[in-house]
Amino acid sequence: MTQGRPLLNRRLAEFGTTIFAEMSALAVRTGAINLGQGFPDTDGPEEVREAAVRALRAGHGNQYPPGPGVPELRTAITEHQLRRYALTYDPDTEVLVTAGATEAVAASMLALLEPGDEVIALEPYYDSYAACIAMAGATRVPVTLHPEPSTGSYRLDLDELRAAVTPRTRLLLLNTPHNPTGTVLTREELAAIAALACERDLLVVTDEVYEHLVFEGEHLPLASFPGMRERTVTISSAGKTFSFTGWKVGWITASPELVTAVRSAKQFLTYVSAGPFQYAVAEALRLPDSYFDTLRADLRAKRDLLSGGLAEAGFEVYRPAGTYFVTTDIRPLDSSGDGFAFCRSLPERCGVVAVPNAVFYDHREQGAPFVRFAFCKRTEVLAEAVSRLKGL
Ligand SMILES: Cc1ncc(COP(=O)(O)O)c(C=O)c1O
Repeated sequence: MTQGRPLLNRRLAEFGTTIFAEMSALAVRTGAINLGQGFPDTDGPEEVREAAVRALRAGHGNQYPPGPGVPELRTAITEHQLRRYALTYDPDTEVLVTAGATEAVAASMLALLEPGDEVIALEPYYDSYAACIAMAGATRVPVTLHPEPSTGSYRLDLDELRAAVTPRTRLLLLNTPHNPTGTVLTREELAAIAALACERDLLVVTDEVYEHLVFEGEHLPLASFPGMRERTVTISSAGKTFSFTGWKVGWITASPELVTAVRSAKQFLTYVSAGPFQYAVAEALRLPDSYFDTLRADLRAKRDLLSGGLAEAGFEVYRPAGTYFVTTDIRPLDSSGDGFAFCRSLPERCGVVAVPNAVFYDHREQGAPFVRFAFCKRTEVLAEAVSRLKGL
């Protein structure tokens, strides 16, 4: 306290230390296997690492790179969007490189929102969304994805989404493939969302960092739907696709007007993002299809290993269609259904760390019995985790 006031401003007062810090510290203290935080335990492709080394040695990007990102990376991003999704973007005016997807979300919220605006986000939501909406002084309006035990998946209720739009709604903040539920929005759902955005004249910010980690169905960028290109900011990142979460290279693609707006905020957050890594990510985006196919096949096998093991251990499993997270219901194992208490005791009980999904909810009671495990770990680590969990 100073001057009788808390140090942290009231916009951020509700956001304490993230659960990931608490659970990762617990993993270190107890020596447990950390399936809490979503980072791979092996690095991405050797040739991409070498590209970063080459860039550093050649003095590419060691001084402030251009504000929008180095031209090589901006061009590679537009080539990727064209090759994968037949979306055409101008590398000079329709791309902005950011310090990871995290900064892209923050800059988008700070640029596009006024205090009092409402932002609709799918709940459970990635934890930085709530904080970024709050920093912009806007109000979040969660629309809850519902677990469907019969299909082992989560479902978006489009009527609930429609009903959540008010005259104050400025923006939809989407995430597909969705962390933590593993939901991949379908063509029909995306078409309905696009129609709603056009009808109510809403902006859409769509976080597609798991675009390459889809095991069931296909990833469809919302920007490819009619009327959406002009009103959509699409976010992605090298962290998940290339297993370099520490590099923090992300980007947005959007119309020139939206890119200009988001850049206005971004330039005063970080100004620019890590130079040499941008050159390396440009090379990564040009890897052949076989790289992306192998990544997906590897993670699909890991999904099956962990999902199967969790089911055998007694959890009710929501098998993800995408991402590298699997959500489980603990109630068959723990009638209290208290995911927080469960995760706090799990390292002592069986040497595994997970995170309680309740932290991703405003309606905490809806998320209470659910717990998330990450499977972006080596097969032997997952196998050991499964064998420990079966001892529960
Ligand atoms: C949905 C989602 N968006 C964004 C991020 C952060 O991405 P980056 O590391 O590129 O900032 C994550 C990381 O877990 C995520 O799950």
